[in-house]
Amino acid sequence: MQILRDEPLQPYNTLSLQARAAVLVRVGSDEELLAAFSLAAERDLPVVPLGEGSNVVLARDLDALVLRQDTRGIEILEEDGDKVRLRVAAGENWHALVQWTLHRGLYGLENLALIPGTVGAAPIQNIGAYGIELKSHLLQVQALAIADGQSLVLSNAGCEFGYRDSVFKRGLRDKLVITAVDLQLSRVPELRIDYPALALAFAQTAIATPTPQDVFNTVVSIRRSKLPDPAVEPNAGSFFKNPVVPAELAQTLLVKFPGLSAYPQPDGRVKLAAAWMIEHCGWKGYREDDIGVHPQHALVIVNYGNDNGEQLLSLASKVAATVADTFGVQLVIEPRVYG
Ligand code: FAD
Ligand code: EPU
Repeated sequence: MQILRDEPLQPYNTLSLQARAAVLVRVGSDEELLAAFSLAAERDLPVVPLGEGSNVVLARDLDALVLRQDTRGIEILEEDGDKVRLRVAAGENWHALVQWTLHRGLYGLENLALIPGTVGAAPIQNIGAYGIELKSHLLQVQALAIADGQSLVLSNAGCEFGYRDSVFKRGLRDKLVITAVDLQLSRVPELRIDYPALALAFAQTAIATPTPQDVFNTVVSIRRSKLPDPAVEPNAGSFFKNPVVPAELAQTLLVKFPGLSAYPQPDGRVKLAAAWMIEHCGWKGYREDDIGVHPQHALVIVNYGNDNGEQLLSLASKVAATVADTFGVQLVIEPRVYG
C-alpha cells in the first residue's frame, strides 16, 4: 500500500485540473483497501475513490483520503453453452478489457470500445456508447462498504441502472467502493449496428457482413474522428448529459428547430442531442482564455491550460444558461464535480 500526503492530483484526472489530495492511497488488494478505510476513519477523512479520473471535475483540493485501486485480474467464472461469465477487478482498464474479450472470442462489448477509465467506475454511470450500455452485460457488482468494510454484492436490478445513472449516484453515493464487476458475454456474436453513426459508417464501407472485430474497429475510428484525446486536449468527454424530455416538449421543439437530433426512448420520452443545442447557441469552438468548447464536438469542454476548475464551471454555467433560454431545457453536468 502506498500512502502519499498532500499529493497533487493533476496527473490523476483527464481534465488536468490542479487539486491536491490530503492523502492519496494506492491499494493493490481488497485487504489493502480495508486498511485504507481504517486509515480514513482514524483521520476522520471521507474516502473518495478515483479510477482514471476521466469523469470528474476536481474544482477544489480534496480534504479526503483519495483511493486509487491498482487491482488487476480477469477471470472466467463459468461457461454455460454460448454464455460466459467473467469477473474483472476494478482496477483493470476498460478498453483493455474490451480488447481482451474480443481476442478470446467473447462478444458483447465491441460498441463500448475506447471509453476511457477503469472497470470499477463503469457501473457508476452505466457507461454507454453506440447503442449499448454496460447494464446489458452486467450480472453483478462486488463492493466493500466504506463505513464498516462489509462485503456487498449488488445484482443488475439492485444497481438501478438508467441513462448515465445508477444507485451509486443516488442512494449508495459515497457509501461503497466497487472492487470487481461480473459480466456475461457470448461466444456467438450479437452485433448491434443500428446506432446512426455506426450504421452510416457500415453503409459507406464494402463490408457486407460485419464481424465483432469490424464493429470494434469502426467504433474506435468514429470515436477518434470525433472526440479529442485527453492526453493532448484535456477533457472529460461529454460535459453534459443529453436531456430526456416529455414527447410533447420534444414535438414543440422539433417544430421550432427542425434540425435538432432527437431519439425516442422506450418509455415514450425523447432524448435530445445536447451537442446540437449547444452548437445552435453558438458555443462550438468558443474559447475564453484557457478554457473552451471543442471546435469538433460542442459537448466537450476542453482545458487548454487552466489549473483550477472555477473558470471551467463558469463557462459550463453560461453554456447551460443559453441552452435553457433558447430551448427551455436544463442541461445537467455529466462528470462528478468536486468543488
Ligand atoms: P473516475 O473519473 O475516476 O470516477 C468517476 C466517478 O466514479 C467518481 O465519482 C468516482 O468516485 C467514482 N468511482 C470510480 N471508481 C470507483 C469504484 N471502484 N468504486 C466506487 N466509485 C468509483 N462515458 C460513457 O459512458 N460513454 C462514453 O462514450 C464516454 N466517452 C468518453 C470519452 C472521453 C474522451 C472521456 C474523457 C470520457 C468519456 N466518458 C464516457 C466518461 C468516462 O470515460 C466514464 O465515466 C468512465 O467510466 C470513468 O472511469 P474512471 O475510472 O476514469 O472514473
Ligand atoms: N452534434 C452536433 N454538434 C456537435 C456534435 C454533435 O450537432 O458539435 C449532433 C450530431 O450530429 C448528432 C448528435 O449531435 O446528431 C449526437 O452526437 P454524437 O453521436 O456525437 O453523440 P453525443 O450525443 O454527443 C453520446 C454520448 C457519448 C457517446 C456517444 C456515442 C452522452 C452525454 N454522450 O454523445 O458519451 O460516446 O453518444 O454513443 O450521452 C460521454 O458520456 O462522455 C460520451 C462521450
